[in-house]
Amino acid sequence: MIRIFLIGFMGCGKTTLGRAYAKEMGLSFVDLDWYIEERFHTSIQQLFSERGEEAFRKIEQRMLHEVAEFENVVIACGGGTPCFYDNMVYMNLQGTTVFLDTSTPTLLRRLKLAQSSRPLLAGKTEEELLQYILTTLEKRMPYYKQVKLKINADYLESRKQIATAVATLKNALEQ
Ligand code: S3P
Repeated sequence: MIRIFLIGFMGCGKTTLGRAYAKEMGLSFVDLDWYIEERFHTSIQQLFSERGEEAFRKIEQRMLHEVAEFENVVIACGGGTPCFYDNMVYMNLQGTTVFLDTSTPTLLRRLKLAQSSRPLLAGKTEEELLQYILTTLEKRMPYYKQVKLKINADYLESRKQIATAVATLKNALEQ
């Protein structure tokens, strides 16, 4: 039985790589944010604005426990998922955790393009966004470091790069 959790900062490519890897390996793919949106018939932005972050984190944990029962699956977590409650310990018990390591310039470039859909980033100037990435990444690294495997995810822009990253992930998981 295969159950893989992809973790890493917003914009590191969890969804892109997770979907491609699952397709290649004939596994199911679940994006935790999308799963929450479907289950609650709302968007992550709405959940944050209507209920606040604390409530979102409780929902996120509850939904993580649902998807972590699925089998033969690749689960792309939210960037904050491993950093609340005992989620990281739990994921390590339930499956194989993989951290997608991405440099700060890459995160900044990707997140500038996809900032508005993320409640923690919306409305920030480029300088504020950079500061947010630096300080939040530092706080989150102790959690991210508890993974079983780490792979570089700086290059996920073209089909070829995604295919290379899929092969790298496959190799790392086979070791
Ligand atoms: C968050 C990351 C988001 C989403 C929410 C909070 C975070 O997921 O869960 O906006 O705390 O880093 P992505 O990493 O998929 O953007």
